[in-house]
Amino acid sequence: MSVRTEPQEPRPQKLARLLRTFAADPVAVSRALPGEFWQRHGSVKYSPAQLDEGWFEHLHGIFGAAWPCPEAERLDGLMAEIAALLSGRGLGSGRGTYGWYSDAEIFLCRAVWCTVMHTRPQVVIETGVAHGVTSRVVLEALRLNDQGHLWSIDLPHPLDHRLHADTGAAVTDECRARWSYLEGSSRQRLPALVAEVDQVDLFIHDSLHTARNTLFEMEQVAAKLSPGGVMLVDDIKSHTGFATFARRHPGYRTVVCESLDEIGMFGIAVGEGRPTT
Ligand SMILES: C[S@@+](CC[C@H](N)C(=O)[O-])C[C@H]1O[C@@H](n2cnc3c(N)ncnc32)[C@H](O)[C@@H]1O
Repeated sequence: MSVRTEPQEPRPQKLARLLRTFAADPVAVSRALPGEFWQRHGSVKYSPAQLDEGWFEHLHGIFGAAWPCPEAERLDGLMAEIAALLSGRGLGSGRGTYGWYSDAEIFLCRAVWCTVMHTRPQVVIETGVAHGVTSRVVLEALRLNDQGHLWSIDLPHPLDHRLHADTGAAVTDECRARWSYLEGSSRQRLPALVAEVDQVDLFIHDSLHTARNTLFEMEQVAAKLSPGGVMLVDDIKSHTGFATFARRHPGYRTVVCESLDEIGMFGIAVGEGRPTT
């Protein structure tokens, strides 16, 4: 996705909208406010030395997949298609286009695409849908693999109800057969979903980016991660959630990656053992 930040709403309007949303759903807004505040006010937790500039090649090494990888080009075509679809619906794409949340950027999407294409997962779980860019990328790759299912847990923007109609806008009807959308917070929905599935082959975190929530989701999934299963964890830059998980689970191979625009960081954690596919 290109970097295209939406024009900022003036403060008085923002506040008035927040008050209206609070009046309509005081419980949900009160629950969401602390996390929404903290995820926007962290400081950078990684030094440049901790970044793996060769992460994409290293990921292919972990998978035993060919490098250079021809799949990256195929993804570029899909990303252009997604941007055109969103634009056709009057939506922006890129950073800050779903309230202050962003569509997944191109490097994370490459990691998602190549993980699905090379590891051929049966069970994929993600948290955080918004426009549904990562959902679409996963679903297109599952369609090509002709196997696997995606469960997406998503709490539509808790502080801006106008955005709810845009949820999953990037996901086309052709993709939906392999998709289950579960509305609610990951804290409410993830434990039951993890208990229900036999194992998780790929997990993508892209919901509430606080240390507490990221760590909670990763620990939930770790209990059912298949041998060599993969977690792709977005927006780890300004909290300690991913680093804490890595410290607690030394058997995982973990990689810290910077986004193409150098604004964000995401993490890759690969579980112990070799995938069975
Ligand atoms: C960064 S956006 C997701 C972007 C999406 N993956 C994409 O590539 O288009 C984050 C999404 O997570 C939702 N969200 C916020 N808090 C959440 C929570 N506690 N549990 C689940 N989803 C949450 C937001 O409302 C938003 O829809």
